[in-house]
Amino acid sequence: MIWEIVQVGDPVLRKKCEPVTRFDGQLHALLDDMKETLIHAEGAGLAAPQVGVPIRAVVVNVEEGYFELINPIFVWQKGEQRGAEGCLSVRGKVGTVCRPSKVKVIFQDRKGDKYSLVARDFFARAICHELDHLDGVLYTDKAANVRDAED
Ligand code: CO
Repeated sequence: MIWEIVQVGDPVLRKKCEPVTRFDGQLHALLDDMKETLIHAEGAGLAAPQVGVPIRAVVVNVEEGYFELINPIFVWQKGEQRGAEGCLSVRGKVGTVCRPSKVKVIFQDRKGDKYSLVARDFFARAICHELDHLDGVLYTDKAANVRDAED
């Protein structure tokens, strides 16, 4: 099911999200809906609070593949990259954001099993952006110059 994506101004986007403790059918249904919603919106990532659910779950869809990250935590962040970023919750805007160029995260999958991954470049940017959502942070808080996107 495709969900409506919450837009900036909604307080759910500013919450510190709660850890996921139940890896059950309800979580799986939410993740399936987040995937469908992300693909429909043609985005690179979506965090649960963006569909109104303040829990620590994000999905990312990039060249490297499709990933579901539950309770993700940075192990380290290295380097620096500057680049354009947008957000499905801040429609029609883009801004330049400085992010690490390489990150390592530990996370759980939808069954609760633990994994880690290393991401570089745009993949790293997407992870940083989505993990910020779990702490109520939007890229516009960090962007140097938020402007209208030229579609
Ligand atoms: Co976003």
